[in-house]
Amino acid sequence: MSRDLLPFAAFRSIGAYAPEKILTNFDLEKMIDTSDEWIVKRTGIKERRIAADDEFTSDMGAKAAEIAIERANISRKDIDLVLCATVTPDYFNMPSTACIVSHKLGIRDVQALDISAACSGFVYLLTIAKAFIESGMKKNVLVVGAEKFSSIVDWTDRITCILFGDGAGAAIISATQNKEESFIDVHASADGSYADFLMTPAPGSVNPMSQKTLDEGLNFVQMKGSETFKLAVKTLTRDVKEILAKNNIKPEDIPHFIPHQANYRIIKAVGDALRMRDEQVVLTVHKYGNTSAASIPMAINDLYESGNLKYGELMLLDTFGGGLTWASALLPYVGNKYTHD
Ligand code: COA
Repeated sequence: MSRDLLPFAAFRSIGAYAPEKILTNFDLEKMIDTSDEWIVKRTGIKERRIAADDEFTSDMGAKAAEIAIERANISRKDIDLVLCATVTPDYFNMPSTACIVSHKLGIRDVQALDISAACSGFVYLLTIAKAFIESGMKKNVLVVGAEKFSSIVDWTDRITCILFGDGAGAAIISATQNKEESFIDVHASADGSYADFLMTPAPGSVNPMSQKTLDEGLNFVQMKGSETFKLAVKTLTRDVKEILAKNNIKPEDIPHFIPHQANYRIIKAVGDALRMRDEQVVLTVHKYGNTSAASIPMAINDLYESGNLKYGELMLLDTFGGGLTWASALLPYVGNKYTHD
């Protein structure tokens, strides 16, 4: 097929799901040696959502996906690829959460796969969706970022347990012949030499599940906090400067900067380095904490449901996570205007 006939990838819709249960900093004060004041000052987080015991990553992903599909005005039968980004899958390591999400949505006989890129997962999926669509292989890709991070958090470790939350976000990426609607650029990268900055050491081939791994808490997320913080600011800033320069776009011309929601201080440092005005930067970290692969789509959804995301407006996505992974994207939102569903 000549390139002239091949379609472009377009961001058609967004949906999200946040579990009902809210865990506030004041609740955490009763569980560990911490304070609302410390958490707000160091992270900007006030509360996070926690999934119910019988609510799993695939349930949250499927709920977000249902909304995204409806808002894209397509039928489930139109979806020809299901991608899920998560580091808290329903099962380690099979079946994939994407298979279970597909099943819960009644999507059959369609390729479904998971990727593991931690907090960069959703933007990583955009690169994959774009490649499938622009090669002509698929037409409507469902991308889901979903996490039950509470399932891998040690609730006695005050350094990590204050940071994370549960939730899901989903989008429909569709083929278009209209170049104006297409992604402008997506970029993703990785550096495994920082693998131990953020990791769950077990279960896996290095540390198969055993009484010893459980006793040592190796199934919980472990993090080098201040090293991760510094690397996050440096990497996010560099990455976003590069994608803007490459596409000849100035930071002040971006209406919606949607960074990974890990820590308000990281977001502020990156925003300041780019001289972004407050109203350009989308913030949800105060109410959801860090929801890893769900963080960016949940933030896009918040912007959408505020009524401030209109057809054709440019979004700049910028993310960073365990691996080390990082990714950025420049793309217009080309879906419907929000009306109360
Ligand atoms: N409540 C109260 N005190 C706490 C605490 C908590 N929840 N967690 C740590 N502390 C204490 C530490 O024990 C330390 O005490 P000490 O000085 O007596 O030893 C002090 O606070 C400072 O700890 P430090 O780790 O240096 O704090 P920090 O300013 O680096 O903030 C993080 C800690 C985790 C908030 C910060 O490093 C961070 O956000 N890192 C990036 C994490 C991240 O975004 N990860 C995901 C990337 S996708």
